[in-house]
Amino acid sequence: MNTHQSEKPLDWVARFAPLVKSGGTVLDLACGNGRHTHYLACLGYQVTAVDRDLSGISETENAGTIELIGADLEDGSPWPLGSRKFNGIIVTNYLYRLLFPAIIDALDDDGVLIYETFSMGNKEYGRPSNPNFLLKPSELLSVCSDRLRVVAYEEGVLGTPSPAVKQRLCAVNRPLDGAPASL
Ligand SMILES: C[S@@+](CC[C@H](N)C(=O)[O-])C[C@H]1O[C@@H](n2cnc3c(N)ncnc32)[C@H](O)[C@@H]1O
Repeated sequence: MNTHQSEKPLDWVARFAPLVKSGGTVLDLACGNGRHTHYLACLGYQVTAVDRDLSGISETENAGTIELIGADLEDGSPWPLGSRKFNGIIVTNYLYRLLFPAIIDALDDDGVLIYETFSMGNKEYGRPSNPNFLLKPSELLSVCSDRLRVVAYEEGVLGTPSPAVKQRLCAVNRPLDGAPASL
């Protein structure tokens, strides 16, 4: 597969990406150098990648299937995706709590949220150590479980790609009283 050369996708993203509707739309929020943007484009998804700094992302690779949006997500500007809905949303190694409602609102019916980021306790292992960038215990699960069907959730010290305290979640936007998602 012709994935982005600089970095492999996180295991959590690779594991759950196939739950997103085949050929569907995916939002990679705070995409960084686009390791997941390119990975998902290679899987056949139409990817919208958002970051305040798009300088690290290759515009030529998978050019036809990737939409790049430069936006500061924390400066009080309106949510840059308007009312658009996505079949999948990926957020990794990024936390700005005020965005949680907008992220969940941007999931289409049966849309899949794949989220992994650092959690309290990570200070022992390195950065980030600022509490603003660290999830509180079970925070990701609490924020999502009222509105989404949680498929998988983990919290603890992860060994790869390097030791870190993290939470990671995969959840699907379908009625809480309806049938569960197909895995
Ligand atoms: C640690 S990187 C993670 C990149 C990517 N998600 C990954 O896991 O490879 C955090 C990203 O968040 C972006 N970011 C930080 N603050 C932001 C803001 N206020 N608005 C938009 N993007 C921001 C940074 O530019 C950076 O690309």
